[in-house]
Formats: sequence, C-alpha cells, structure tokens
Amino acid sequence: MAVEFIWDDLYSVGRADIDDQHKSIFSIANTVPDTLDKGMLNYTIMRLYLYTTDHFSAEEQMMKDIGFPKLEYHKALHDELTARLQMISTELFDDLDSLARFKEFVHKWIVGHILTHDMEYFEFARSQGGWKPV
Ligand SMILES: [Fe+2]
Repeated sequence: MAVEFIWDDLYSVGRADIDDQHKSIFSIANTVPDTLDKGMLNYTIMRLYLYTTDHFSAEEQMMKDIGFPKLEYHKALHDELTARLQMISTELFDDLDSLARFKEFVHKWIVGHILTHDMEYFEFARSQGGWKPV
C-alpha cells in the first residue's frame, strides 16, 4: 500500500515557515515508490536526506533562538534520523521486505517525530508567550 502523508492542522507547530518545511517533507515522502524501483528509491532517499538535513538545521537554530531546554536531546534525534537515512541509502532494496522497512521508517520517523518531538518545542514556545514574529 502506498505511503500517503496528508497534512493536517494537528501537525502544525504554529509557525508557517516550519509547517511549510514539514509539508515539503510529506510531499517527498509521498513519492516513495510502491515497487522495487531502485532508481526512484535512491532518488527519494537522497531528496529526503538533503531536505531533512537543511530542515533540521533550521529547526535547531530556531530552538536555540528560543532557548529550548531540550535542544541537545532533540538534536540527537535529528542526528539519529539522518544517520539512519544514510544507512538506508546503502540498502540494496532487492526484496519487498526492505521496501516495507523503509516505508515504516519514513512513517515512524517523519510523522512520529513531528507529532511528538516537534510538538515539544511548540509547547515550550507557547509557554514562553508564543513565537516571536519571524
Ligand atoms: Fe525536529
């Protein structure tokens, strides 16, 4: 079954710039193929990798700017995610199990990370009186 990420306002962290980046990650994630199309798989992994590393840098800077106390922990999660993506990029994808594992990873990390960990900096920003205008 196709991995399909549909944006929901529930995912919003209250900042249009970060939400837009998350939406772009969803769009890239929606291009994960359903078949063992190695060229497309490699291309998607590369796009995810490049986009998420830029996005994580932006998020980390933003967390630093607001004095988010769990920055180091959050950064470690980002590092783990990019390391995992790098590892996946070396997979051969020669059976459907490897494709299923990749899809599970995309789902668990991308949506799971936004819904749980990214919400923590949103809550923190709210507790500090909300986001300052960007
Ligand atoms: Fe994050």
